[in-house]
Amino acid sequence: MQLALRRGFFFPASEIYSSAPSGIYDFGPNGRALRDNIAAFWRRHLVQHNDMLEIDGAQIMPRAVFESSGHLMGFNDPVTQCTKCHAMHRADRIIADATGAQVPEGTPEGKLDEMIEDQGLACPKCRGTLSKVKRFNLMMAVMLGPLQDQECYLRPETCQSIFCDYLRLTKTMRVKLPFGIAQRGNAFRNEISPRNYLIRQREFAQIECEIFFDPEQINEIGGFDAVKGTSMRFQRIGSDDPVEMTAGELLEGGVVSGRLIAYYLAEVQRTWEAMGFPHELLRFREVGDDERPFYSKETWDFEVLSDQLGWVELVANNYRIDYDLGGHQKGSKADLRWTAEDGRKFIPHVWEISAGLDRTLMCLLEAAFRQDDSRKYPYLSIPPQISPYLCAVFPLVRKDGLPALAHEVVDDLRNHGIEVTYDESGSIGRRYARVDEVGCPFAVTVDYDTPEKGVVTLRDRDSTEQATVDLKELPGTIWKLYNGLLPFSSLLG
Ligand code: GAP
Repeated sequence: MQLALRRGFFFPASEIYSSAPSGIYDFGPNGRALRDNIAAFWRRHLVQHNDMLEIDGAQIMPRAVFESSGHLMGFNDPVTQCTKCHAMHRADRIIADATGAQVPEGTPEGKLDEMIEDQGLACPKCRGTLSKVKRFNLMMAVMLGPLQDQECYLRPETCQSIFCDYLRLTKTMRVKLPFGIAQRGNAFRNEISPRNYLIRQREFAQIECEIFFDPEQINEIGGFDAVKGTSMRFQRIGSDDPVEMTAGELLEGGVVSGRLIAYYLAEVQRTWEAMGFPHELLRFREVGDDERPFYSKETWDFEVLSDQLGWVELVANNYRIDYDLGGHQKGSKADLRWTAEDGRKFIPHVWEISAGLDRTLMCLLEAAFRQDDSRKYPYLSIPPQISPYLCAVFPLVRKDGLPALAHEVVDDLRNHGIEVTYDESGSIGRRYARVDEVGCPFAVTVDYDTPEKGVVTLRDRDSTEQATVDLKELPGTIWKLYNGLLPFSSLLG
């Protein structure tokens, strides 16, 4: 986190004001680029790979949407207030912090009161007495119009735009079940105790896919053979350690409700592993009845083990059945039923893959962080397809026409669609250190051989090896390295 803050990946929003609320972050140049590249990677590997439709929904939605979705009634956290200093606390958190045991999400208020009393818990700030536990709705209201009489809310999950757009997309996009709709966008939650930087924010980015399917055809999904052997770690309820299972075994063992679910769990595993998360630090955790969100019949949380934070949920995989479309049909009176070829009319079921983009970014920074004896500074081993910049360009010295030549190299690489950063200040070692620290995988040095022989030095971040590359071949070589079509070692003499 020191590195992320020092190199401006992200920082508190409106930070020059003391009144800036906590749990809201801005992303600087490196973080903005990394965030966009993670989203682009997700689009390519999960969304486009599965021919999903994409939308970009509005963030403000009317009250009626959230009456239908159940958020006005059910999207609550349990809170308790200090009767002395008036600080608000999440009741389940202070119990968990005091006892070290997880408190299930839906634990009733009365039970939480009992736990607080049994443990003799007081306000963590001033040791004052705590009030009875109440429910606090996490949505943020926005009052529109000059009279501020139109009650709207900032969406607490991006997928509500997908459910509201479902009808128009089925009418305009010539779709057949099963099909997915995906979206990257911001969600807003009035978290009582935002914490751990990007892990629990009040405004955060989600990358979500909603797969609509015929419940009678939950076992009909193309492409299953390609993922059948994909191995994943599963943490079942009641077992201490995760077990390794393939998508095929999941299905044969009846661990999940159908082939479509086994397929998409494997797709999540494949995508996040390819981003650079080590297999042994990932797991799917079965979420029990007491903890599942109000709309889900089956949930597998995809989690990564963080050194500092323990298990962190990156992706909620939920079987939302017909809960949302059913609720919106009732609330809006729009007919959201699907007509099957055999004439059956039904509300499609939904399998959801709801990922946190910012949590993925923060946990990826941890997974990519390296500090070894080979260099004096830390570096980020981020895959080239995700790193903030694909290539850095340096003139060896700031004279003899080398900066002008280096700028020509920059233009040429940019014309070939390569994200480049240019740096001419400080020693070459210092410049390597600066780009290694932000995970830039390749650096090009323009030296005295460039004008004479038309070659540059290309350096690999992870191995620090250096190869001589012909200027004319540079863009093509970098693209091949980017796509994994060429190992760096093959460039070495
Ligand atoms: N549409 C379902 C849904 O929103 P969720 O489990 O509430 O489910 C999905 O959220 C993902 O969004 C989580 O797995 C997490 O990665 C991310 N997320 C949720 N709340 C967050 C918060 N306050 N700050 C940052 N990321 C959050």
